[in-house]
Amino acid sequence: MKKLLIATGGGDCPGLNAVIRGICKRAKKEKDWEVYGSREAFNGVYSDPPEIIKLTKKKIAGIHVKGGTILKTTNKADPLHFPVKDEHGNVKFVDRTNVLAERIKELGFDAVINIGGDGSQKISQALFNHGLNIVGVPKTIDNDLSATDMTFGFQTAVQIASDSLDKLVTTAESHHRVMIMEVMGRDAGWIALHTAISGGAEICLIPEIPYDIKKLVEKIQSRYDKGRGFVIIVIAEGAKAKEGTIVSHAGDEGSRHVRLGGVAYQLTHQLKDAGITAEIRETVLGHVQRGGTPSAFDRVLASLFGVKAFEMVANGEFGKMVSFKNNDFVAVPLEEATKDYNFVRKDSFIVKGAKDLGITFGD
Ligand code: F6P
Repeated sequence: MKKLLIATGGGDCPGLNAVIRGICKRAKKEKDWEVYGSREAFNGVYSDPPEIIKLTKKKIAGIHVKGGTILKTTNKADPLHFPVKDEHGNVKFVDRTNVLAERIKELGFDAVINIGGDGSQKISQALFNHGLNIVGVPKTIDNDLSATDMTFGFQTAVQIASDSLDKLVTTAESHHRVMIMEVMGRDAGWIALHTAISGGAEICLIPEIPYDIKKLVEKIQSRYDKGRGFVIIVIAEGAKAKEGTIVSHAGDEGSRHVRLGGVAYQLTHQLKDAGITAEIRETVLGHVQRGGTPSAFDRVLASLFGVKAFEMVANGEFGKMVSFKNNDFVAVPLEEATKDYNFVRKDSFIVKGAKDLGITFGD
């Protein structure tokens, strides 16, 4: 029997379990593959003894409807920037991908499927360079991977954010308030933009278009002047004013990344300082956007990503990532998949269309 290892890395995301199930179900048809999962990204491989579980029929039954990942995950202990403490207790980051690749081979795995976002696919590329047979699957609610039209998890996050926005509209209307809803997305404004269009927000603020506070004040004032006594603002966690900075906090120990969150409160201060007298309330949606059951669309996308990823393994198409392109499932080189970040383009049809629908970006 040949052995396949699956790992889920980075932040969890609705649809991870559907990918795992898709891989296992497709592998079963071949009769000569056994599928295993590493616990908490590749930490299960480093552990002594290794924390690797066999993904039996029983383990994967019905998991496609469950959020999170049955394998657990982490966004620390990145093997490309592995945190180690020197003799003075200072943390420095070292590349341990060669050790990881060797360890996976020693454990007898013939191939690996790494399900993760941008950072995880950079790890896949490094492991491939060290001679590992690896295939990537693009995961992230942020939809910021450029080599695929869509990552799984994104549609679910947008649905959750849109449902929340609908609820904020009725309370905003009742109190004549300005309601600010902050969504995730890191450096990309995809969740905010789709939510603003779907929910019919008046203002949408995204990292790709720094905003002029005066433009926001004009829009808010005109809504109140016309007697439309409430305003809905969707702001992406990575958005900033033209002359401002993003709101970030130090990352957790072992992580090189800053944490975003709280820009909604900064915006309230900016609006008040600029003369808005209406009451303002903030909702920071946070991790609910990643929680719970995946949407039907994400279940389908993730399941088919799983099927395609296994087929790539069986065909020996390594060093590639599954991609959803023009309504088809294709393989793209990992190098291409990790080269560019998928930003919202200011001159794209979606931004123009949102403006035509009456949404102000503050530019
Ligand atoms: O990348 C997914 C994401 O949810 C981002 O939108 C967000 O900034 C980040 O992860 C939050 O990370 P954590 O779960 O570590 O707080």
